[in-house]
Amino acid sequence: MEKRKFGRARWLLAGLCVVLLLSGCKGMEKAEEKKSIRIGVSLYRGDDTFINNIRGELEKCAKEYEQGHGVKVTLDIQDAKGSQNIQNNQVERFISLGCDVMCINPVDRTAASAMIDKAMTAEVPVVFFNRKPVEEDMDRWDQLFYVGAEARESAVLQGSIVVDRYREDPASLDKNGDGVVSYVLLEGESSHQDSLIRTEWSIQTLKDGGVPIEKITGGIANWERSQASALMEQWLEQYPGRIELVVCNNDDMALGAIDALERAEAEGINLVGIDGTTPGLEAVESGKLMGTVSSDKEQYAGAIFAIAVDKAMGQEIRQELALENGKYYQCPQQIVEKNP
Ligand code: GAL
Repeated sequence: MEKRKFGRARWLLAGLCVVLLLSGCKGMEKAEEKKSIRIGVSLYRGDDTFINNIRGELEKCAKEYEQGHGVKVTLDIQDAKGSQNIQNNQVERFISLGCDVMCINPVDRTAASAMIDKAMTAEVPVVFFNRKPVEEDMDRWDQLFYVGAEARESAVLQGSIVVDRYREDPASLDKNGDGVVSYVLLEGESSHQDSLIRTEWSIQTLKDGGVPIEKITGGIANWERSQASALMEQWLEQYPGRIELVVCNNDDMALGAIDALERAEAEGINLVGIDGTTPGLEAVESGKLMGTVSSDKEQYAGAIFAIAVDKAMGQEIRQELALENGKYYQCPQQIVEKNP
């Protein structure tokens, strides 16, 4: 599998960050006073593949930190099951249990203010991740942080996978040779900051890159494999032989579309995803997915954990994170594709 370089200096910097962030999980030299810390983590949905990958990395970070520092880390991970009410209750519980810091993947990113109220009253810092609260909320307190991956960057990289492939071999995308690549679009939750931006910039990149495209149809599958599979099944019936490309806001929806293609025994349709989840990368490796855009999960979770642990230990947030405006961290991303 080839991981394409897209800016040497950028990657050198990214590499340096990984080393520094991993040192957040491992050997920090400062003398610590606390011998145990408690971190409350609430996930918007425990069954989301990408979020689960991040969760796994967070658990690794906690173990490594414990081993490297002799500080007991209690990582209390809870699933909000898609309910903001459940998540609000989890936040209350974290506070009553004496959590030093909370890492929250908000269910409803526009409804973070109630959680922020509780955190501010109890003076418990919060690291939000993946679902970005609105700026108005983020600006309410200097102990609110956000870790994510820039949606526009994901989309431009996703689009460029298709552009480069088209330039190398137009016929590999324009299967029926009519001079146009006909595509369908699978979108994430409409309320998620990533969906709209990813869709817009992915398609814009195709246009800017000179790929002649025509949209057949599109639909919201809320990041979910099964919903995407159902939509794709329907589209295959509705537009027989017409679909040449499936642009997906994430890997799980691409996998759902692949499930439908396999059921229908349809061949020759190209798909692109975003996330680089474990099953997404496997699909690239096996040639089912043309390519994906991967954020480094180790680095993503490493940044969440580093901010959380620095806050929990009562230390300054390490400089090397270079937080934008003192509160935002955007994880770098890269293209992953198999050699054609
Ligand atoms: C996106 C990711 C999706 C899903 C979503 C959940 O950034 O690409 O796969 O995990 O976040 O908020």
